[in-house]
Amino acid sequence: MISQIRIGALISGTGTNLQAILDACDSGRINGQICFVGSDNPNAAGLKRARLKNIPVFFIDYKAFSDSVGKDPDSIELPPDLDLDSVLEKQHLISNHQEPKWLRRFFISRTLAEAALLEKMAAYPFDLLILAGFMRTLSPYFIDRVNTDPKMPRIMNIHPSLLPAFPGTDGYGDTYRYGCKVGGCTVHFVDYGEDSGPIIGQKTFPIEETDTLETVRKKGLQLEWDLFTTCVNLFAEKRLEIVREFSETDQPEHPKVRILPEPLCPV
Ligand code: GRF
Repeated sequence: MISQIRIGALISGTGTNLQAILDACDSGRINGQICFVGSDNPNAAGLKRARLKNIPVFFIDYKAFSDSVGKDPDSIELPPDLDLDSVLEKQHLISNHQEPKWLRRFFISRTLAEAALLEKMAAYPFDLLILAGFMRTLSPYFIDRVNTDPKMPRIMNIHPSLLPAFPGTDGYGDTYRYGCKVGGCTVHFVDYGEDSGPIIGQKTFPIEETDTLETVRKKGLQLEWDLFTTCVNLFAEKRLEIVREFSETDQPEHPKVRILPEPLCPV
């Protein structure tokens, strides 16, 4: 019998994905429990869903950090364990063609918020961190402090498009406006890029002539709840393995997720 996993969640909005995971934990479809819900938005409706279940919640004011850095970046005290140059080197979120000063300011503000986030999270040990509609990208500073096992990442995101198409904040909108005949959603582990990490699962739906942006969003969201639940449960059952293969030219390929029929390491 595998023991229950502890799941931390970050959200920004309505929290219907969070609700799906909460329900799946309650019904036993996921062998786990949500141990905290954090948000960058104090009014996120999803926080109410967590409070109703007596789950600890907290808010991190990303905007306040970015305002303070914007005013006087030189007077800011950086997190003591931050190596900004290494973060800038590792990150694939923003093109290095961006103005260097802007890039530094962005990552100073981002890592300050993340240091505060990590401090809050430290009170609630967790096995898996889910991004359930969390509208902030994560820097290598944060990711490296969560992914402590080099073999198994543990930050999982749900994205509203069939990745690698349409990364970014408006996956369904981009899919619809492009005129795609099929839409989809993806669950993936988070890496140093934008929605670029190893794909765990995907679901698709047809887009008909009669569909509108609204109906596309609705169709997609409904699939997300089931997909996210399935992927979180695969993690809980220890049935996900990261595979790093080499191409014919000996270049490492993009890491893949293999879904195992049996748990990787039975407990
Ligand atoms: C979902 O469409 C998710 O894919 C995206 O943000 C939306 C969050 O919806 N990242 P909800 O807050 O879970 O209802």
